[in-house]
Amino acid sequence: MLKKIWLSPPHMGGNEEAYVKEAFDTNWIAPLGPNVQQFEKSIEDFVGNNTHAACLSSGTSAIHLGLELLGVSEGDEVICQSFTFSASANPITYLGASPIFVDSEEDTWNISPILLEEAIKDRMAHGKKPKAIVAVHLYGMPYKVDEVHEVARNYDIPVIEDSAEALGSSYRGFNCGSFGDVGILSFNGNKIITTSGGGALLCKDQKTKEKAVFLATQARDDAPHYQHSHIGYNYRMSNVLAGIGRGQMEVLKDRVAARRHNFQYYKEHLSNLTDITFINEPEGSYSNRWLTCILTPSFKVRENLRTALEKENIESRPLWKPMHLQPVFEKNASFVNGVSEDLFERGLCLPSGSSLEIDDLERICEIIKNELK
Ligand SMILES: Cc1ncc(COP(=O)(O)O)c(C=O)c1O
Repeated sequence: MLKKIWLSPPHMGGNEEAYVKEAFDTNWIAPLGPNVQQFEKSIEDFVGNNTHAACLSSGTSAIHLGLELLGVSEGDEVICQSFTFSASANPITYLGASPIFVDSEEDTWNISPILLEEAIKDRMAHGKKPKAIVAVHLYGMPYKVDEVHEVARNYDIPVIEDSAEALGSSYRGFNCGSFGDVGILSFNGNKIITTSGGGALLCKDQKTKEKAVFLATQARDDAPHYQHSHIGYNYRMSNVLAGIGRGQMEVLKDRVAARRHNFQYYKEHLSNLTDITFINEPEGSYSNRWLTCILTPSFKVRENLRTALEKENIESRPLWKPMHLQPVFEKNASFVNGVSEDLFERGLCLPSGSSLEIDDLERICEIIKNELK
């Protein structure tokens, strides 16, 4: 049996078990406790820019709470990058609001500032000013922060910065996660660091963080008995899983270096194949290269490569299918230019785990080269 190569498997650093054991030894088997506090502090120290982090059960729950804290409610419209994973858009619907999808630009594959402004103007002309914007640093590549936030500021619309895939990426020297009115991270099993499942809401001040934690712990009023004046959620991260996160934060920089090395290796060994192209970092952008993505000349070539790798027990994936093409969102308004549809047709994510060895990378490149011969 050929060795299985996964797209993006978890990669433990070594100290995770000790922190988990600490939770067991001290009986902090609860959705709060010292590991949660320490994990939050290490995220805040890393992201910087006066970030206040609330650790939650997932990135999806962080987007849900972020939208609620920004005042999104029933009947509202929220602009969302179309080229993303469904979790960027789904929480908009949890609140009874509707996502309006905006396509990407070609430099970063993220939300186009030009189409964003068009979408805002159009919705305002229909008497529906969007309540928020969900912008995504897809595959770890920062979106055009200056341009997107300028449009948002001009129309006074808050931004949820979806950094689920971009911990360790930065833009003009500031870390991703620190730009939005709120930001979110994911620690799902396939992310650059993981707690098996988990996420964080990144807030601009302590008061907003406290409000998020209040909502995430069933919105209990301050009383000796159980009293509730708001609808709450059970969204807090467990102290056991936060132990994994503490250990993972200690190796985050190594994980970014390893993923960037994967990208460099693929680029060096594949870019002489005229059929394959890569996305470069625009000036001022630093990507964690969460997943290395290639563009092939056609859907057919992309599928040939994917199935050739599959036959050799190697996992690869087409790029995200845009939300405006998803059956579940077919009735939602969208502002499109063909960019994300083309990326979906021709793009493939290659194995990108930080534990990949040179032999693995060599094996993958050989298969791709043979297929394109
Ligand atoms: C862009 C993006 N947004 C949001 C999420 C949701 O994160 P989670 O899986 O932790 O709920 C993910 C990942 O899963 C993602 O890739």
